[in-house]
Amino acid sequence: MSFSRVRTLVTGGSGFIGSHLCERLLADGHEVLCVDNYYTGRRQNIEHLLANPRFEAMRHDITMSLYVEVDEIYNLACPASPIHYQFDPVQTLKTSVHGAINMLGLAKRIKAKIFQASTSEVYGDPHVHPQPESYWGHVNPLGPRACYDEGKRAAETLFFDYHRQHGVPIKVARIFNTYGPRMHPDDGRVVSNFIMQALRGEPITIYGDGSQTRSFGYVDDLVEGMLRLMSTEDAFLGPVNLGNPGEVSVRDLAERIIAMTGSRSRLVFKPLPADDPKQRQPDITLARQKLNWTPKVELRDGLQRTIDYFRSIIAGDAGPNRAGSAEIKERLPIQPEEMVLS
Ligand SMILES: NC(=O)c1ccc[n+]([C@@H]2O[C@H](COP(=O)([O-])OP(=O)(O)OC[C@H]3O[C@@H](n4cnc5c(N)ncnc54)[C@H](O)[C@@H]3O)[C@@H](O)[C@H]2O)c1
Repeated sequence: MSFSRVRTLVTGGSGFIGSHLCERLLADGHEVLCVDNYYTGRRQNIEHLLANPRFEAMRHDITMSLYVEVDEIYNLACPASPIHYQFDPVQTLKTSVHGAINMLGLAKRIKAKIFQASTSEVYGDPHVHPQPESYWGHVNPLGPRACYDEGKRAAETLFFDYHRQHGVPIKVARIFNTYGPRMHPDDGRVVSNFIMQALRGEPITIYGDGSQTRSFGYVDDLVEGMLRLMSTEDAFLGPVNLGNPGEVSVRDLAERIIAMTGSRSRLVFKPLPADDPKQRQPDITLARQKLNWTPKVELRDGLQRTIDYFRSIIAGDAGPNRAGSAEIKERLPIQPEEMVLS
């Protein structure tokens, strides 16, 4: 074994984005330690990496201390979809806050550089469109989304305080809607919902008239942005928005998916939830300037790869995870139909 290899810890490494990051880090020659409690992640997501001698998977909950030796840390552990993070809001908040404290404490002790997967949700229900990183956001601290939004905001605060107070080298990315293979089929978001409904021949549900627009970033583009951010000069900490500014209307997305899957699903229109935003689009000026990064994957290509993945799920290639959909639905404070699931 070479001692010059970068040893990289990925928390949440068995999740959707984490598994793609692990794959890419291995391809770039890193040694990768994947830490996950398999709450929303799946073993199947990393099964193909297990034979690689530079890859190790460890079951661990980051709300507990972790003692390992690595050179850098990517902190991704946290359920990301509203259905999943509202299932156990206290655990969600603990994962963001205690998890950040534990991972920052580890980074401080072993002098590792640490990346935080923050989110566009820190902008809350924004009064500014599109949102630059300088916008402080408009978040309800008491609502059902607060466990995620406020948890991620507190994690950002912890990252900047550990940097100012203890000199820990940090990088913070605010990730916008991301899609691709290995996203959870039951996460209730539009891309996964529409593809699963189309493949099963079920009606595709659209809230409102479908003219509201959304922006979707493909997972490979995101991973490239994350790696570029990690390798920026020490003085650049972020936060930096990572997302695809290309807009598509919800109706257009549904029609594309129907055409691409050859589905006979029809569109069904339901009333728009009160807090559904008209538009969501990242401002990626800073990422362009500082990381020389722009998304490359066309929506059509990304959707095709995602559809192929969901076809394989339906064919029975991937098993369930702990947070099963029926159980989740029962425990939710409000039902998915009432949530904004973009
Ligand atoms: N997917 C998106 O569109 C998106 C957008 C913004 C931010 N993010 C952030 O990116 C990160 C990854 O998101 P994802 O889409 O891959 O979600 P995901 O749910 O697929 O992955 C999260 C992973 O973290 C693990 N995890 C959760 N709590 C844990 C804990 N306490 N200890 C150890 N592991 C734990 C889960 O089992 C899962 O494998 C998250 O931090 C999320 O907030 C994602």
